[in-house]
Amino acid sequence: VDALQEIADKYNLKLIFDAAHAFGCTYHGNNIGQFGDAEIFSFHATKTMNAFEGGAVTTNNAELAKKMRLMKNFGFSGYDQVTYIGTNGKMSEIAAAMGITSFESLAEFVEVNREHFELYEKELSGRDDLLIKGYSPKETTSYPYVVIELLGEEAPLLRDVMVQLLHAENIIARRYFYPGCHNMEPYRSHFPNAYLLLPETEDIMRRVVCLPTGTTVTTEAVQTICHIIRLILDNKKTLLAEFDAASTSQHSS
Ligand SMILES: Cc1ncc(COP(=O)(O)O)c(C=O)c1O
Repeated sequence: VDALQEIADKYNLKLIFDAAHAFGCTYHGNNIGQFGDAEIFSFHATKTMNAFEGGAVTTNNAELAKKMRLMKNFGFSGYDQVTYIGTNGKMSEIAAAMGITSFESLAEFVEVNREHFELYEKELSGRDDLLIKGYSPKETTSYPYVVIELLGEEAPLLRDVMVQLLHAENIIARRYFYPGCHNMEPYRSHFPNAYLLLPETEDIMRRVVCLPTGTTVTTEAVQTICHIIRLILDNKKTLLAEFDAASTSQHSS
């Protein structure tokens, strides 16, 4: 946050944060939503704070807030008066009702996420081939994601094999931030060499897996998922050899 603000200040740029999953989280003890020129939260059903769809923009800039209020309501500033460009970006009643319901249960959702995260941590700790991305004890978080990072030379191959095997068990683990914005349109065509400038992103996006959490996941399910992950890691050599043989025979047939 601070480093990006420094760059924005230096080059006189606007700074807009994607805070999609950061509802109820803090940075240096301050609530997310007050940084940069604006922050954008998602209330999609996959988020801890859920209104089916939709989101919110927060800003400390009163002028910008006024413009956004006009923009989401066709630019109407009064009866029969359109004074700004706009579209229909209003939140529907049913989404708002869901949002309020979700907000009322937020503490409960966060508690379930925390319990799941701590169980994953306990079940998968002490290994040199896997790291659980932690949350700072100094900050408030909703534990929205359980992200594991595979370590070692074979990590990228093993990651893809792991996701396939988990899917085969009906465990919808995700590579998530793969293959990275810079490898998707329109950025890919605009900046075809971006991958050369982003070695850290290129490395990490090949090694991470996002594991299931939230209130629809049971404690037993977390234990089963961890058991399968340990099995995969403990048998990685055999599994990688089998996947290699299977893909070779697929390509030659
Ligand atoms: C980092 C990030 N940005 C943006 C979005 C998109 O949010 P929405 O679906 O509400 O537009 C998501 C949703 O998963 C996200 O995780």
